[in-house]
Amino acid sequence: MTTNIQSLIRLAATLILSLSMAQTALAQGDTEAGKELAYSCLGCHGIDGYRNAYPSYRVPKLGGQKAAYLVIALKGYRDGSRSHPTMVAQADSLSDQQIEDVAAYLASLGGDTVAAGGSDAKDAEKSRPEAAQACVACHGPNGVSVNAIWPTIAGQHEDYLLQALKKYRDGTRTDPLMTAQANLLAEEDLETLARYFANLDGLETTKED
Ligand code: HEC
Ligand code: HEC
Repeated sequence: MTTNIQSLIRLAATLILSLSMAQTALAQGDTEAGKELAYSCLGCHGIDGYRNAYPSYRVPKLGGQKAAYLVIALKGYRDGSRSHPTMVAQADSLSDQQIEDVAAYLASLGGDTVAAGGSDAKDAEKSRPEAAQACVACHGPNGVSVNAIWPTIAGQHEDYLLQALKKYRDGTRTDPLMTAQANLLAEEDLETLARYFANLDGLETTKED
């Protein structure tokens, strides 16, 4: 094992320990109210393969994503720690309660795959590239996150995952946990990681139920 991967794993373990005391409360959204609010979201997130105009990457799948993570992401766009212009405009007028509601609704659209826990853990382990060993501590052995405040990445669009990793590395997206992780990765591992997690069973394109 290379030193880099050992330090990645050590870093992950330390961070998880220090964070377990500081978890936010689980989201308490009303899915019925969230369904109304999600109508406009599905114009992008509900269309298979819909792309961000520039740079071009697929709009992320949200079906089955952890509700608490969706809340953190939406507040990030609304309050300025995330900067994507379209999403800033979408989140801008939402109240805290509306964010909880829409997150609860989107999280409920995951279908059976996420509910059942995603890919078989043994299969996922067999095909796991070495660089992904550190990721599983937070994102789960098969890419389904082990903590509701961290995103599930299994089944997410490959090009969305790749651009997210690149943003953490170049500093245009920052997070206390992911920035450190991404900076320890070797450039040539980014595509391997994005492909591996995208090919596991997990998130789905949100379809109105
Ligand atoms: C015009 C298209 C469009 C619409 C409408 C839209 N989104 Fe998005 N959404 C995007 C794009 C593009 C991204 C990726 C942004 C980025 O890279 O930060 C995104 C990202 C997100 C993320 C972050 C996902 C992650 O994995 O971090 C959330 C959560 C989200 N959108 C929720 C919503 C909600 C809720 C609505 C409706 C209130 C909505 N979106 C409406 C295009 C859209
Ligand atoms: C210590 C916990 C931790 C570890 C280890 C970790 N991550 Fe993350 N990851 C997070 C958190 C927290 C976020 C959400 C950050 C944010 O809001 O931008 C995240 C976000 C991501 C995202 C963006 C997801 C989205 O929906 O936008 C990708 C891609 C990702 N991680 C990939 C990886 C990969 C690949 C590894 C292994 C090299 C890894 N992560 C290791 C905690 C971790």
